[in-house]
Amino acid sequence: PTRPRVLSGIQPTADSFHLGNYLGALRQWVALQETHETFYMVVDLHAITVEQDPKVLRERTRVSAAQLLALGVDPERSALFVQSQVPEHAQLSWVLECQTGFGEASRMTQFKDKASKQGADHASVGLFTYPILQAADILIYQANAVPVGEDQRQHLELSRNLAQRFNHRFGKTFVVPEPHIVKDTAKIFDLQDPTSKMSKSASSPNGLIELLDEPKKSAKKIRSAVTDTGREIVFDPEHKAGVSNLLTIYSAIGGKSIPELEAEYADKGYGNLKVDLAEVLVQFVTPFQERVRSYLDDVTELDKVLARGADRARSVAAETLSVVYDRIGF
Ligand code: ADP
Ligand code: NA
Repeated sequence: PTRPRVLSGIQPTADSFHLGNYLGALRQWVALQETHETFYMVVDLHAITVEQDPKVLRERTRVSAAQLLALGVDPERSALFVQSQVPEHAQLSWVLECQTGFGEASRMTQFKDKASKQGADHASVGLFTYPILQAADILIYQANAVPVGEDQRQHLELSRNLAQRFNHRFGKTFVVPEPHIVKDTAKIFDLQDPTSKMSKSASSPNGLIELLDEPKKSAKKIRSAVTDTGREIVFDPEHKAGVSNLLTIYSAIGGKSIPELEAEYADKGYGNLKVDLAEVLVQFVTPFQERVRSYLDDVTELDKVLARGADRARSVAAETLSVVYDRIGF
C-alpha cells in the first residue's frame, strides 16, 4: 500500500536550529517517516530571496542537513536533499509564475510584512515570487500533504489554487495538496518575553535556545527564564505564560505529560522546575551535538548522502516536469 506523500523544507538561514523549529516542526518530520513517504529539503533557493554571504550559506546548508540527520531524519526512509540540487524546482516555478496573477501574488501578506521591514524598494523580486517557488516545491513531488503552521496557510492556499488552475486548463497534472495538521506540535515562546514566539529574528539572545549553542549557556537561559510572581506550577498560558512555556518544553523533551509535571512539581517552586528542565535540556542537546559533529567531521560522506537524496528527489521531480512541459506545448 502506498503511503501519502509529504513534503517540507527548512531554510539554512541560521547557524543553528532553535527549540521552536524542533518542537514546532522538525520533531514532526521525524515522526511522519512512520506513516508517510517523506521528502525533506534544505531550501537554499528560498534563502537567497534575502542577501546571503556565499561562504556562510554553504556552511549553514551543511550544518542544517547535519542537524536534520542528528534529529532523526533517516536518509534511507526520507529523500533528504538540498533544494538547489534539484533544478526542476526552479523550472516548474517559472511555469507557475506564468499562471499566477500579479494581483494574486501581491496579496501574499508575508511578502508585505517582510518587504515593509526591508523597505519595498530593497526587497527582491525573488522575495515577491517566493510563494510560487513554494508551490513548485510541493507540486513537483505530487505531495498529498504539507505540514503547515498558521503563517503558511495562505501560501498553501496559493499552491492549491495553482494546482487546480493548471489541472483545469491543461488536464489533470498535479495532486492538490492538503494541509497536514500535526498533533503534538508545540508553539514555543521566547524565554524572556513569553507572549511572543521564539524566533531567530525576533527573540533576544537570552530568549532563544539554539540547539547547537553551548549546553551550559542554554541551561543558564532556562534558569533565568521569565516567570511570574506567583508560586504555583500550573499550565495556564493566559495568566502564566512563562511557566506554561517551560512546562511545554519540559513535556516535549522530557517525555512526561503536562499533568504529570504539574503533579510532580505541586509542592516545589519555579526554581526547582527550571533547574530540572535545564538538566533535561542538557541531556538532550549534548548527544545531539555529538551526532551533528560526527556528520560534519566527514563532509564528503555528508555531501554523498545529500547527493543520493537529490537523485531520489529528481527521479520524481523530472517525471512531473516532463508531463508539465508536454501539457503546455514544450
Ligand atoms: P523563525 O521564526 O525563527 O524565523 P522559521 O520561520 O524559519 O523560524 O521556521 C521554521 C519552522 O519552525 C516553521 O515550520 C515554523 O512554523 C517553526 N517554528 C519557528 N518558530 C517556532 C516556535 N517558536 N514555535 C513553534 N514552531 C516554530
Ligand atoms: Na520566521
